[in-house]
Amino acid sequence: MANRVTINADIAKGTINRNIYGHFSEHLGRCIYEGIWVGEQSPIPNTYGIRNDVAEALKKMKIPVLRWPGGCFADEYHWKDGVGPTEARKTMINTHWGGVVENNQFGTHEFLRLCEMLECEPYISGNVGSGTVQEMSEWVEYITFDGKSPMADWRKENGRERPWKLKYFGVGNENWGCGGNMRPEYYADLYRRYQTYVRNYGENGIYKIACGPNDFNYQWMDVVMREAHWLMDGISVHYYTIPTGVWSAKGSATEFGEDEWFATLKKSLLMDELLAKHSAIMDRYDPKKRVGLIVDEWGTWYDVEPGTNPGFLYQQNTIRDALVAGLTLNVFHEHCDRVHMANLAQVVNVLQSVILTEGEKMILTPTYHVMDMYKVHQDATLLEASVSAADYVHNGEKLQQVSVSASKNEQGVLHISLCNLDHQSSAPVQIDLRGLNDRNVKVKGTELTARDMRDHNSFDRPDAVKPSAFGGIETSGNEIRVTLAPMSVTVLEVVVA
Ligand code: AHR
Repeated sequence: MANRVTINADIAKGTINRNIYGHFSEHLGRCIYEGIWVGEQSPIPNTYGIRNDVAEALKKMKIPVLRWPGGCFADEYHWKDGVGPTEARKTMINTHWGGVVENNQFGTHEFLRLCEMLECEPYISGNVGSGTVQEMSEWVEYITFDGKSPMADWRKENGRERPWKLKYFGVGNENWGCGGNMRPEYYADLYRRYQTYVRNYGENGIYKIACGPNDFNYQWMDVVMREAHWLMDGISVHYYTIPTGVWSAKGSATEFGEDEWFATLKKSLLMDELLAKHSAIMDRYDPKKRVGLIVDEWGTWYDVEPGTNPGFLYQQNTIRDALVAGLTLNVFHEHCDRVHMANLAQVVNVLQSVILTEGEKMILTPTYHVMDMYKVHQDATLLEASVSAADYVHNGEKLQQVSVSASKNEQGVLHISLCNLDHQSSAPVQIDLRGLNDRNVKVKGTELTARDMRDHNSFDRPDAVKPSAFGGIETSGNEIRVTLAPMSVTVLEVVVA
C-alpha cells in the first residue's frame, strides 16, 4: 500500500506550546552532580559550577523549561538546606536514589542561575509529602518577593538582590506513591490547602500544577479535578515506556531484538490513548480547556547499564529511543489543546537523557538529535494532517508504519516531521499539500537513522548516530515524494514561494 500524507496548510488546529519540549532534572544518580553541576573548582570548564558543554548543548536545543528538584526527591527536599554559604549547607540522605549523601551544593540559587544561563523557564516542584505549608509558602516568597520580608532579606543576604521570575510551581509529586501514598480525596484536600499559600508577589503570577495520576489511573484524575480544578492552572500525568511492562526486568537499553523494538514503540504510542482519556475527564470539569495537562515525566525506562548503581537509573539511548521521542512528540502536538507542557525524564545521565557524561566527556544521544530537529515546531501552529500508511507487522500485531505531524511557523514556513517505525523496510511517502493556492514550494530536510536498531552513541563513537541532510526529495506542484529510511526520524522544511 502506498503511504499518503495529506496536509491542509490552511487548517490550523492550535498552537504547539514550546513547553512541550521541556526537560526534567532531578537529584538522582549523576543528573545534577557530574551531569550539570561540577562546582567552580572543577577542571571541567564551568560557569559558576555549571558545565559549559552541557549548558551550550541544552541552549542549542532551545530547551524551554526545566523541572527541578524531583521527582520523588522533591517530596523529601527541604529547600532551606540548599541556600546560604555552601560550606555550611546541611547534608541529607537521598533515600530514594541509591541512599547516597546529598550535600546540597546545588540548591535554589544554582538552579535558577542555570535557568538564566539556558534562557529557559524554571519549573519548581514543592514538597507536600514531608514538607509544611509554611515551608512551601516561604520558598515562593524567597524566590519572588521584591520588598522587605524575612525571606526576601535572607535571599539578599545570600547574594541575590533582585527576585527571580518564577512561573511554574508543582504542588507535590506523585503523591499517590513516593510523595506520601495518599488517596486522591486526601491529596485533593491537601492541594487546596497548600496552594492557598503559594502567593503571587508583585507582577509574578504563578501557574500552579496539581499532582495528577500515574499513567492509566483515571480515578485519580477524576477526583482531583472534581475537588480542585478551579484552584489549579495545570495537572500532571506521568507515563514511562517500559518494554516488558515488568519493573524487575524492564529490558536492556542496547541489547534487544525486534520483539522489544516493536513492544517499545507500541507502548510509547499508548500516550495517545492516555492523553485522550485524561482530557475527556478534564473536559467534564473544565470544558473550556483552561487547565493544562502537564506530562511532567515521560520517556523510556530500561534496566540500568550493567555495572552501574541500580539506584542511579543510568541507561544508554539508541535509535529506538529516537523513534520513541519522535512518535511521542507527534502525539503531544495532536493534543496541544490540552497538553501545555511535557518534561522528558531526565535531562542528563538518567533514563531517556538527551546528554550523557563521563568525567570531562559529553555525548549527545539520538534523543537529543530528535529534540533538536523538532525544535522548529516550538510555538508553531499545528496543521491538520492525516496519514494513510501501510502496516508494520510483527508477530501478528501491527502498527501504522508512518507517523506524521506538521506545523507552520510565524514566517509561514511549514515543517513536517515523519517517523518510519519499521526497522527493516523503507517507506515511500507521497505528501499532498493542500491550501497553498498552487504556490511553489522549496523543500529540504534532515534525517536521523541508523544501520542497526541497537546503534547508539558512546564515548568512543560519539557520532555513530547523528542527523544528516535528507536526499531524494521530489516535488511536483504541491506534491512532495520522499522515501523514509528504515527506523528513521525525518523533518522536512517547506518554504512557500
Ligand atoms: O524519574 C524517576 C522517578 O520516576 C521520579 O523521581 C518519580 O517521580 C517517578 O516515579
